[in-house]
Amino acid sequence: MGRIEDLTMSFQLETDRLILRTPVLDDAPEWAEKINRIEIAENMVNMPFPYTVENATDLIRKLLDSEPWIDKKPLCICLKNTGELIGGCNLMAIDAKHRKAFIGFWCIPEMWGNGYITEAALRVVKYGFEECDLERIEARCMALNQASARVLEKLGMVHEYTARRDVFRFDKFYDMKYYSVLRSDWDRLVGE
Ligand SMILES: CC(C)(COP(=O)(O)OP(=O)(O)OC[C@H]1O[C@@H](n2cnc3c(N)ncnc32)[C@H](O)[C@@H]1OP(=O)(O)O)[C@@H](O)C(=O)NCCC(=O)NCCS
Repeated sequence: MGRIEDLTMSFQLETDRLILRTPVLDDAPEWAEKINRIEIAENMVNMPFPYTVENATDLIRKLLDSEPWIDKKPLCICLKNTGELIGGCNLMAIDAKHRKAFIGFWCIPEMWGNGYITEAALRVVKYGFEECDLERIEARCMALNQASARVLEKLGMVHEYTARRDVFRFDKFYDMKYYSVLRSDWDRLVGE
């Protein structure tokens, strides 16, 4: 896990259509404007809603201050051809001792169904296994969230269990599906 500490703030990952990069404080207004959607918030467990520029500024400031800074770092997903910010995807709660992390993502509704999140998340998972030497990457989604479950399956994730009435959000309890992909699953996926 040595490389995590070596990374600089200009860190970015690239795919065919996307640039995934760390946000800077100037991104706060756009980040807040894009993420402040009920279609996104109702599927996210801890996201504030309404989501303000102050929320975005706090988040970015926290990650800039965190040690190692990569932990809890949201990667802005930007279209390569226009630079527009269309979502976020990140490895969180990186656990160096047990070599595991948690992945999360979101996308603006106007861009859903274009394969962007699968493309971004595959790159982040590749980064986790091939550059951060992780053994396991975990994820969870509301049991009703079929789009997210589908993305997780396309990352090679296995549904491990469903926790009943696991999350209380907007005055309702939700069942949550828990997933993981192991380094060996990933090796098989990319070896195919
Ligand atoms: C989940 C989310 C990020 C997916 O974004 P996206 O840009 O549509 O993702 P992709 O286009 O890469 O892939 C979506 C997949 O889900 C499938 N899908 C979409 N809606 C679906 C539904 N209602 N039922 C089944 N599959 C569905 C798509 O067909 C596609 O699969 P395919 O490539 O096999 O056809 C997006 O819906 C979102 O931001 N939702 C709100 C926030 C959220 O749920 N975040 C995840 C929290 S765990």
